[in-house]
Order: sequence, then C-alpha cells, then structure tokens
Amino acid sequence: MAIRKIREIGDECLKKKCREVENFDQKLHTLLDDMKETLLLANGVGLAAPQVGILRRVVIIDRGDDGIIELINPVITYTEGEVKDTEGCLSVPGKAGEVTRPRKATVKAFDRNGNEFEYTGEDLYARCICHECDHLDGILYVEKAENIFDLNLEDEDEE
Ligand code: NI
Repeated sequence: MAIRKIREIGDECLKKKCREVENFDQKLHTLLDDMKETLLLANGVGLAAPQVGILRRVVIIDRGDDGIIELINPVITYTEGEVKDTEGCLSVPGKAGEVTRPRKATVKAFDRNGNEFEYTGEDLYARCICHECDHLDGILYVEKAENIFDLNLEDEDEE
C-alpha cells in the first residue's frame, strides 16, 4: 500500500467527470488499498478517486467501528429528507461550509470483486455519499455551500 497525494482545489482532476470502472482487477484493488491508507492518514471520512488523480468512479467511506465501505460505480437511487450542516473536504484544506443534503441516501454500487450491493447511509454518511458522488462528476461542495469559512484548527486544539 502507498500514500497517494491528495489533489487540492484548482487541480484539473477535481473538475472532470470520471469514467466507470470496467475491470475489477488488481489495479483497482491497489487503488482502493492506497485510498484507504491515504484517507486514514488524512483523518477524513470519505475519499473519491479523482482526489488522488484517478478519474474513475471509485469512492470509499470510513464508518468508524463499522469499517470502511468501498463503492465502485455508485449510483444514488433514493434520498429522503433534508439537512443543512457543516462539511469539509480534504481537497479544500482549512475550510468548511454549510450545505443542504439529504438526511438519508441509498446508493447502488459494486464491491471490489464486481458484486452489486446496496448501501443506505443516514446523517453524516448520507452527506458523505452525496459529497463523494459529486466528486465523481467534478463537483466540489464549495459550489453548493451557502457560506464558506476558515477553520482555525490551532485555536480548536487549545480549548
Ligand atoms: Ni471531498
């Protein structure tokens, strides 16, 4: 496994519509393993392949004690409710913004071996599904945020 460089806002990779994965092969498994290591090191909740410069429809979400879920070619099939809350992105360091997202989201996707499954996330995980799927279409949350503010991480650490 290897840490991959996280692309930041302004990078062309973050503006592109990603292509579907066609081969569920070792190359995909290596990408997923690298993304997992990169996400854990960065202490994020989710990561999409274009954030590490790969223009394929691949997303991972870290659900803490429930483990990391891998979504290949995800399609959101159902959403419910609306919540406005703060979110950030590893590709937009030091910032956060308020975005309205569904409270519940169901996604249809494939696992790393090409088996189709469905996953329903609520609250933080519904938000994460929508945020990460947006990445696959070249959309950053800052385009949807009502306001964007600076995170003063040093102050938070002092409290
Ligand atoms: Ni993001």
